[in-house]
Amino acid sequence: MQSHEQLQTVARETLRKNDRGGYTLPTQGLYPFQWNWDAGITALGWMTFDPARAWREYETLFSGQWGPDHFGGANDGFLAQITFHQDSDTYFPGPDQWGTDSLAIRTSSISQPPLHATMLRWMWKEAVRTSERDKTLAPQRDMAEACLQELLPKVIAHHRWWYRCRDPQGTGLVVNIHPWETGMDNSPAWDDPQSAVLPTQRPYVRKDLNHVDASMRPPKIFYDRMVSLMDFNSACGFDPKRIFAECPYRVNDIGIISILQRSSIDLVALCQEFGLQDAAKEMQQHVDRTQVAVESLWSERWQQYVSRNARTGALLDVPTSAGLMAAYAGFQKDCADTVDSWLDETLYGIPSTRSTYIGFEPLRYWRGPIWQHINMLIAMGLADRGHVELADRIRVDSETLLRQQGFHEYYDPTDGRGLGGGEFSWTAATYLYWIKPNASR
Ligand code: DGY
Repeated sequence: MQSHEQLQTVARETLRKNDRGGYTLPTQGLYPFQWNWDAGITALGWMTFDPARAWREYETLFSGQWGPDHFGGANDGFLAQITFHQDSDTYFPGPDQWGTDSLAIRTSSISQPPLHATMLRWMWKEAVRTSERDKTLAPQRDMAEACLQELLPKVIAHHRWWYRCRDPQGTGLVVNIHPWETGMDNSPAWDDPQSAVLPTQRPYVRKDLNHVDASMRPPKIFYDRMVSLMDFNSACGFDPKRIFAECPYRVNDIGIISILQRSSIDLVALCQEFGLQDAAKEMQQHVDRTQVAVESLWSERWQQYVSRNARTGALLDVPTSAGLMAAYAGFQKDCADTVDSWLDETLYGIPSTRSTYIGFEPLRYWRGPIWQHINMLIAMGLADRGHVELADRIRVDSETLLRQQGFHEYYDPTDGRGLGGGEFSWTAATYLYWIKPNASR
């Protein structure tokens, strides 16, 4: 097992190795571009040893944001799941597949969980703390302030995009229109809604299986449907009204809803601090609406929040870790007892799907393995809500796992084996930002 100092060095080297000068690959080969929510978590890691590089990650990410001049302007504020700063032939579907060739910086046409206001607030707090601890580091605070002044209007536009385009009726619960938007691609929670999507008939070549064993990746039928949804989007000219009305897949994902809720709460705080009072009020209204609406997603059976098929109205009563981010999101019920039970059922931390659920698969992408950044968000939310011991239990599990296995994409919750891509940026970042030197001692 590696010492903390050794592992910290490896974590920093992992980020440097995946650095492409302004953005960080999640991992080489398997994910050769800038991913949306990966960038936010990864920036936290950079923040611990190279703050300028952390803010740069964000500037680069938002350089791909769609504005009023893109595709008729209806998607102003949209931030893509993937930004293609350079070409690569190791990934499908790459830059030429999404119908966005007219953009100066090509992107995919779907988004990802909007955790950015939270990450930016944590980075801001880190900069303030650092400069208070050591007055000679005051320039770090100035840099953070200048970057936030640039970034905040873009983040506000992004939140407006979510509420305007993905909740046009103002229900308080945004939808997603592609499982990849959830970042939890083939979670068993999507099995029912994605069965309504006609698989594509067009030929394509997957690249992920060149990097990772098929037992750890989604099956072909899943990809056929993902390609079909991607093509539907471009066939609609990315018109959000048409997509909302006609997309064969429309889901209220509790993961996106929780992450957006927490981000809007943090955005309110940042806007207040930076003198953007109108935006603060506007975001607070969204927060209040969601706070009430989310109670319709409570599962009595699993004692946690779950997702809903927004096309049929049916609750997707599947226990996934997305529904345990309740304390993080500030929802009425914090799910602490449920988290406690989950932890008793497996060896290391919180799996992506509850291990007692029939659809649990410990090796396969989002159907069972543990993701460290989700564990971090759940634990940090629980700690904020006063469940300090429970939060620490999750962190210590993660520390054990990372010390034994290094920085993988995900881990088998039954034996701790590292799975998926190796040298993974956001896993290294969670070690640097969350687990930290001496934190468990
Ligand atoms: C993939 O290609 O597996 C990604 O998760 C999509 O974002």
